[in-house]
Amino acid sequence: MIEDISAARDVALAAVAGAQTVDLLDQFVAEHLGKRGPLASLKARLGALPTVDEKKAMGQALNEATSAVSAAADAHRAVLAAVERRAQLAGERMDLTEFRRPPARGHAHLVTEAWERLEDVFIGLGFKVAEGPEIETDWYNFEALNMPPSHPARSMWDTLFVEHGAPGSTVLRTHTSPVQARVMTTQEPPIYVVAPGRVFRNETADATHMPVFHQIEGLVVDRGISFADLAGTIEAFTRAFFGSGFTSRLRPSFFPFTEPSAEFDIRRPDGSWLELGGCGMVHPNVLAACGIDPEEWGGFAFGFGIDRMAKEYHGVDDLREMYSNDVRFIEQF
Ligand code: PHE
Repeated sequence: MIEDISAARDVALAAVAGAQTVDLLDQFVAEHLGKRGPLASLKARLGALPTVDEKKAMGQALNEATSAVSAAADAHRAVLAAVERRAQLAGERMDLTEFRRPPARGHAHLVTEAWERLEDVFIGLGFKVAEGPEIETDWYNFEALNMPPSHPARSMWDTLFVEHGAPGSTVLRTHTSPVQARVMTTQEPPIYVVAPGRVFRNETADATHMPVFHQIEGLVVDRGISFADLAGTIEAFTRAFFGSGFTSRLRPSFFPFTEPSAEFDIRRPDGSWLELGGCGMVHPNVLAACGIDPEEWGGFAFGFGIDRMAKEYHGVDDLREMYSNDVRFIEQF
């Protein structure tokens, strides 16, 4: 019988040692040390032994075998439990690495970036920044700019009106030129200002037009200002903003508030031209309407689209894309 006990113990020890998980280990312990296990059936044979000494000896051997298996199981269970705990912790570990990386930084809107760069360039040329309201009176948007009521030139701008005051008296400014009048009525010459801002026109959006867009206005009022000063300023600005490969040209045009008037184009390094804005010598009627003596002072003004500059600068095909807020588009810049 002692061999049977040793054999049952060794089988049980081997099973316990081979268990890969705590669950399997518990299962093996139950099988080998349980009521229906080999050691239990050996115990059942004790009663049939002939002598008390044999009963005692075999009983002791069975107890020792049982304790040995239990002790081995406990030791192995501790090892398995530690391994399982480690695996569980590793599995539950949260990946916090993304919080440690510096967060990805975005950037200002392409038009805001162009707006700020334009301000920088003009400040570098000696200008100050001025601003005016987006909701404007008819007087500043048109009348002070040499366009009396019903003047046909008003139709150059598809105007959006605001229901405020007398019908037609309040508009969403169609250009930044009313800021010229606001500056001239409040500041003494010499004046060197640029006025960037949002403007509105009753237009359908397409690749090169938006009903809401941005312009930057330039105004100089000083003594002895000539058309050459205007052309030189536009050329200096073109090179400062786009780079030395770019140049500018003026084409005769018409605006009621400048005389003579011109449109100006930017020549790209590949020789193609981009129409950018309008300019001219401030009309004496405008100076007079704003309380500046046209006999003593002269000036020039220009205005052009910031959105178009941003579009050109970044090689964007369609103005509308800049306002789609599509991250895949934005992240390219
Ligand atoms: N305000 C004009 C426009 O929106 C541009 C311009 C500004 C022309 C200043 C001449 C002088 O078309």
